[in-house]
Amino acid sequence: MPVILNNIDGVTGVVKEPGKTFAKEKLKDTSVLVVGGGGREHAIVDALSRSPFVTKIYCAPGNAGIAAQAECVPISDHDIQALLDFAGDKGIDLTVVGPEVPLSMGIADAFAAAGRRIFGPSAAAARIECSKDWAKALMIKYGVPTASYRSFDDFDEAWAYVRERPFPQVLKYDGLAAGKGVTIPRTAEEAEADLRSMLLDDRFGKGKVVVEEFLTGPEFSFMCLVDGPKVFPLALAQDHKRAFEGDEGPNTGGMGAYSPLPFISAEEEEWALEHIMKPVAEGLVAEGAPFKGLLYGGLMKTPQGIKVIEFNCRFGDPETEVVLPRLESDFYLMLSAIADGTDMPEIRWSEDASLGFVLASKGYPGSYGKGFPIGGIDDAAGRVKVYHMGTRSTEQGIVTAGGRVLMTVGMAPSLKEARDKALAAAEGIVCGNLFFRKDIGHQVL
Ligand code: AMP
Ligand code: GLY
Repeated sequence: MPVILNNIDGVTGVVKEPGKTFAKEKLKDTSVLVVGGGGREHAIVDALSRSPFVTKIYCAPGNAGIAAQAECVPISDHDIQALLDFAGDKGIDLTVVGPEVPLSMGIADAFAAAGRRIFGPSAAAARIECSKDWAKALMIKYGVPTASYRSFDDFDEAWAYVRERPFPQVLKYDGLAAGKGVTIPRTAEEAEADLRSMLLDDRFGKGKVVVEEFLTGPEFSFMCLVDGPKVFPLALAQDHKRAFEGDEGPNTGGMGAYSPLPFISAEEEEWALEHIMKPVAEGLVAEGAPFKGLLYGGLMKTPQGIKVIEFNCRFGDPETEVVLPRLESDFYLMLSAIADGTDMPEIRWSEDASLGFVLASKGYPGSYGKGFPIGGIDDAAGRVKVYHMGTRSTEQGIVTAGGRVLMTVGMAPSLKEARDKALAAAEGIVCGNLFFRKDIGHQVL
């Protein structure tokens, strides 16, 4: 009988009997279902697979890379009833939700009503991401620093307000818009066209527009595990939202990331925890929508201090792909502590830095082709972590199947070495239809 482990208390995560090991067979079988099929879910599966407590991982729907570490099941991440039935049939111990759409549709509420353990917030708490207008009102009410704003549902009123104010301004569609609902018009003409498309042509559906003051400064992502008023910070990361080098081109889901961040001090991080993340978690409790899951603060270090750009109700993508590889604690126990409302184990991080490049389909974030064969993945995966974001297995091998396709993540004692490793791996990927930004980390390297 192979003795693998591990000497960690299953509840507290604390080493119990120093010097002793436990057989994996002595632990009870634990199966986890991860919902989603991108790079974030690949990193979540990868982190869960390092937990000695997890004996089986399913992923719905998963992708070609995830299939090497989890059993992929062909259920859409939007199909809440099918996911609940699957979890019941397989006796899944914990379900972990990646994307925001099933959360906004109430997957956590449905699982809770059925008595199934789940990691992810209720639909009411997910409004922090799904309604920009609601999130702004919450921040103002609880004194959380953010850009000043006004909301409009009428085009004429919005246009009358916007045209009197200095440019640039920031326009945000109120609902979910797959990362495409924010524009930063620099002239009155651009602003009028954007307002028309959002309020008259209903480009994303009928909804309000939030008009925000334009802020400047470096952005960073502060992800915290949250259980009601309790907030547990994860390592900071920075995303790169624009498609092209030099932060040019359209906004994307994110073209690369790194962690930790040399430009945010421990004091600034503590300040953001105390003045932003905790007040918002407490505010959500006070509003009757306590948050249980991962609260993502998209923050900006402005000349007037740290302010909120946006909140998300889930792990960031691609931030998760650079943060979780640095985690030394047991991820399953951490998620369980939130799901069960029990004590959080100590959260420890590697001293190593991580940095990753996203390889995206040519044309992304606009329209792009799919089905292009990809070579060199195994070689890259032998040197760095390669997370699959949008891939599919075919008889001819692995092919592209999404806008963002792969992410190579290097880890090393310095950000520069991590960058060099990840860059070499990205350059070794062979595909006729991929591009990537080579300047990830340019603000600090
Ligand atoms: P969001 O989807 O809210 O994260 O917005 C997308 C991107 O637009 C952000 O990552 C920022 O780069 C930019 N942005 C959003 N709000 C502001 C703001 N008030 N001032 C400056 N840039 C902003
Ligand atoms: N990387 C930004 C996000 O996950 O929304």
